[in-house]
Amino acid sequence: MIAAFEVLLKQTMGLDAASIGTSAIERAVQQRLVACGLKDEEAYLERVRASADEVQELIEAVIVPETWFFRDREAFAALARMVYEEWLLTRPEGVFRVLSLPCSTGEEPYSMAMALLDAGFPADRFRIDALDISARSLAHARRAVFGRNSFRGGDLDFRARHFAPAGSGWQLAEAVRKQVEFHQGNLLDPGLNPGAAAYDVVFCRNLLIYFDRATQDRAIAALVRFLALKGWLFVGPAETGLLLSHGFSSVKVPLAFAFRRAEAPPAEPPAVKNPVAFRRPPPSPRVVPPMPFSSVVLRTPAALIPSDLPTGIEQAMRLADQGRLVEAAKTCEEHLRAQGPSAQAFFVMGLVRDASGGHADAAEFYRKALYLDPQHHEALVQLALLLEGQGNKSGAKVLADRARRIEQKTVK
Ligand SMILES: C[S@@+](CC[C@H](N)C(=O)[O-])C[C@H]1O[C@@H](n2cnc3c(N)ncnc32)[C@H](O)[C@@H]1O
Repeated sequence: MIAAFEVLLKQTMGLDAASIGTSAIERAVQQRLVACGLKDEEAYLERVRASADEVQELIEAVIVPETWFFRDREAFAALARMVYEEWLLTRPEGVFRVLSLPCSTGEEPYSMAMALLDAGFPADRFRIDALDISARSLAHARRAVFGRNSFRGGDLDFRARHFAPAGSGWQLAEAVRKQVEFHQGNLLDPGLNPGAAAYDVVFCRNLLIYFDRATQDRAIAALVRFLALKGWLFVGPAETGLLLSHGFSSVKVPLAFAFRRAEAPPAEPPAVKNPVAFRRPPPSPRVVPPMPFSSVVLRTPAALIPSDLPTGIEQAMRLADQGRLVEAAKTCEEHLRAQGPSAQAFFVMGLVRDASGGHADAAEFYRKALYLDPQHHEALVQLALLLEGQGNKSGAKVLADRARRIEQKTVK
């Protein structure tokens, strides 16, 4: 009997029962059956087949709405950098369009808005559309009051900047809320057309893992329709391999899990002679977004993996880029054993530890990198961010100043 519900859920929302297990589906069916006051699964199957509203209720009972602010932080820092280093170069005017699908209870699209605003990007130059199949999650997102579970990890400075306490939770500021528009939508609906024009960036994170191969193919075809030719598609750490097998290539920002279509032409040179007003983040303390390991590695993504890196490190960075953190750490350790200590290997170890939440270890690795190469710009930036996140403002400032001096020297 449960197989009939599995088929129904596959057909409606694409869910592959194997991804969450039959028992989770059984629990959802039982919950709905009791709520409807029906006596057995057969009666409930009849009800659900006859009522679109009940199908939606079953979907609400089975979805996995797990999400939190700045989940996989690198992605949000990469988004902010992409605007300045790529999009604005050819778009002195116009609106940067971003899609979050699925957005669940809103933490993801609101994190995008905070990241862009904190990077100094003007509010009237970007719009975020956020879609999810769950009407209940969307209602929560629109209310914009969040509990403890939405705030994970050590660095919660963003909460002080953008939220006000509300009961036992926190209410998000209107300035962030107004950047995001929520709509109900099913990624697998062939008629789904979230926006009038293609999106510059699409986040589709932690959904494809719930689909089987054929459904993933359909989902990716839909995402390709929504994405501008040179746009970036961000996925979850476990979904990166899938994109590589669908004609996408990594944009090579470690731990951001961002891709573009392989046939997309490279970024064009600036369309105007005089640089646009927002070519770079404004020279305020916000140049370095206040996130501990935001890849505010202040280089262009392409330059992040220099061509002269020893193979082991390059491989470790690529693994990290694909979300294969354990393998990335192992590759780095092997490289260190075989080649001896190197600043870049320690730096990559730091990034990997940061991404898995080991901030103390990460700080130690950045320090080792700086011991070997005091001019290591990225290590300075990352360590500054970590210290800032831990409340060590003066330590962070010393490092950030050093990083800035190196930047200035490089620009001259
Ligand atoms: C694990 S959450 C991911 C949220 C967010 N992207 C993140 O990574 O934190 C998965 C979301 O996918 C939504 N979902 C499931 N099937 C969907 C579909 N076919 N179309 C749109 N959303 C779907 C669920 O409602 C749930 O909110």
